[in-house]
This record gives sequence, C-alpha cells and structure tokens, in this order.
Amino acid sequence: MRRLNRARITGTGSYLPERRLTNDDISKMVDTTDEWIRTRTGVCERRLAAEDELTSDLATHAARNAMEAAGVTAQQVDLVLVATTTPDMIFPSTASIVQKKLGANLSQGPAFDLQAVCSGFIYALSVADQFIATGAAKCALVIGAETFTRILDWTDRNTCVLFGDGAGAVVLQPEPEGSERGILSTHLHADGDYVDLLKVPTGVSNNLKGGVNAAQAGEPPPPRQILGYTEMRGNEVFKKAVMGLGQLVDETLAANGLEKSDLDWLVPHQANMRIIKSTAKRLKMGLENVVVTVDRHGNTSAASVPLALDEAVRDGRIQPGHLVLMEAFGGGFTWGSALVRW
Ligand code: UT7
Repeated sequence: MRRLNRARITGTGSYLPERRLTNDDISKMVDTTDEWIRTRTGVCERRLAAEDELTSDLATHAARNAMEAAGVTAQQVDLVLVATTTPDMIFPSTASIVQKKLGANLSQGPAFDLQAVCSGFIYALSVADQFIATGAAKCALVIGAETFTRILDWTDRNTCVLFGDGAGAVVLQPEPEGSERGILSTHLHADGDYVDLLKVPTGVSNNLKGGVNAAQAGEPPPPRQILGYTEMRGNEVFKKAVMGLGQLVDETLAANGLEKSDLDWLVPHQANMRIIKSTAKRLKMGLENVVVTVDRHGNTSAASVPLALDEAVRDGRIQPGHLVLMEAFGGGFTWGSALVRW
C-alpha cells in the first residue's frame, strides 16, 4: 500500500453502563465463588447495560467522548466503523445507527460494522488506518461496543462470569508529514480451524427452520426472536491465546525494528488476568506498565482495548511520545496488534 499519510489517534473516549454486577451477585445465580472468579480470571465486577440501552447507545456515548477529546465535530467525521459482536439488529449496521445518532450522516461518508469478536477493535483500527493512509478518509471514528451480557447463558458458570458491557472509541486523523507520532503498524491474523472453540451457534443462514420450504410445507414460521448464547471451550482458548499473543508481540516489534525495552505501555485485551500476565512476561514488562481493567470491566470483547486505552490516556499514564502496544485475541480465532507512537 502506498502510504500518503500516517494516522494518529487524536482523541479517545469510553462509556460504561451504570449497573454493576459483582462476583457475589453471580454466585447467587450459578455454582461459583468470588474466590474462584478472582483467582482464575482477575474479574471482580462487570457492568450491565440497562434494559433500554443498546450497543448503539453505548457506542454513541463513547464516540461523543472521543470526538470532544479530539475537538472534531460530527460533520467532520467521514468514516464510522463499529466493531461489535452484539449489533442492535441484523441490519442495518450499528455503525449506520451510530452515524445517525451522532449527526455524522451529514458528511455521507461510509459507515459499517466489523465482526472479529474480541479482536474487532484492532481489526477496525487497522482498516481505518488504511483509509487515512490512502487519503480515503480524513476523520475516522473507530468504535468497539458490546452488550455482550445479552448473549450469555446466565445458567452457565463457564461463561457468564467472564463478560461485561461497555464501549470505547477513538478518532483517527492524518498526521502532518514528518511527524513521528501515530500508528506505526498493525498486524492481523485469523485461523478458521478454531471456529468451534468459541461461538454463539445460532444465526441467520443456519436458521434452517424458516424460509420457503417451511412455508411450502404449510408449517408455521419459526419464532421471530433469534436467541443464542456464548459457548466456549475455555481451557483450549486460553492456551491458543497465550501462544498467539506471544508470537504476535514479537512479530510487531520485529516489523518496526524495535526492542521489548522500547515499549512504554501494553494495552491488552482484557479476557483474563493470567493471559495478560503471560504476555507482559514475554515482553519483560512489569505490571506497572500494563493497563488493566479486567478487574472492573470483565471481558467486554471488542470494547475492551479502547476502554483500557481511554482510561490510561485520561488519567495521564499514556503521554505524547510513548510507545504503546495494543493487542487482542478472540473467536474465529482472530488476533491482532497495533503499535502506536502516542
Ligand atoms: O476474549 C476472547 C478470548 N477468551 C479467552 O481468552 C478466555 C480464555 N479462557 C479462560 O480465560 C479460562 O480458560 C477460563 C477462565 C474460562 C477458565 O479457567 P480455567 O483455569 O481454564 O478452568 P477450566 O475451564 O479448566 O475449569 C477448571 C474447573 C472445572 O472443574 P473440574 O472439571 O476441574 O472439576 C470447571 O468446571 O473449574 C470449574 N469451573 C468453575 N468453578 C467455579 C469453571 N467455571 C467455574 C466457575 N466457578 N465460574
């Protein structure tokens, strides 16, 4: 790709729903304990979207925050990308809904969703980076937003203790020529051999009970609501995540001719504290240089990296000039990283 511009994150934002659900709350619903959840995952509590709060609402709050931080108006936004596993509807895209809620539809720039589960934000950042790099967009809004608790089986202790709701967003704009700041590189991977290890198996085209055949046979239409829940073979996902992320961080540094010791911050996907520690160890980084939110947010899937990023930018940990490595791993499997000179 011929790169005309380097893209820089000029503003970050996030949003968490108000309602908190503690481990003790969950231990009243399934056979688990606060002790088990804390020691095996690092999660202490997570947020739950209100009944009338949709993914697009969470996304819109986070996006407004990021736009305010960047000092850009809705009219300037010429690309809206929403990474989500929990869209408001099958279609139109949540990005189209967010674009309208923000008033960013005035620019009539493209808006679309991207589905890479927990790696969705990194994937979307990479796509937006390439829009900016080629000059196809001048002001991109990249959002990771989830109401993941709506696709959990609240009787399954293997999964319901892990996830939470939330949204994070960034604004990407071209950096003036010669600047050292911005996205240095992104690295995306997928391996479809593992689709069955982490999934919500219900969907649209595998909903075989509907359609013309049922109508011709005179059968009643299937229920309108399609409900599906997350299924995970956690231990197998864990092992692959540790290995994939280890290789990924090495790949990212090597591609930029940088050393582990050059990194200032690791902003990892917040799936499990034990996975985060293993990546930090591989990078020879102390936990004081790792942004951790899993204790308070749980795993918010595509929202987890931008939520953590926003927290560390707003509290002043991440400063201009710092080298920041973001990474994520999720269903598919998909995994990816972004290296940024802040
Ligand atoms: O974000 C996308 C990517 N997702 C991930 O990266 C998640 C990766 N996986 C994990 O984080 C971990 O595998 C889990 C946290 C999901 C599970 O931890 P684990 O150490 O791998 O436990 P396990 O699945 O091997 O289960 C160990 C035991 C089992 O009991 P037995 O068979 O040893 O008697 C489970 O039934 O723990 C039991 N268990 C629980 N016990 C109490 C599973 N869930 C719970 C629970 N409370 N909530």
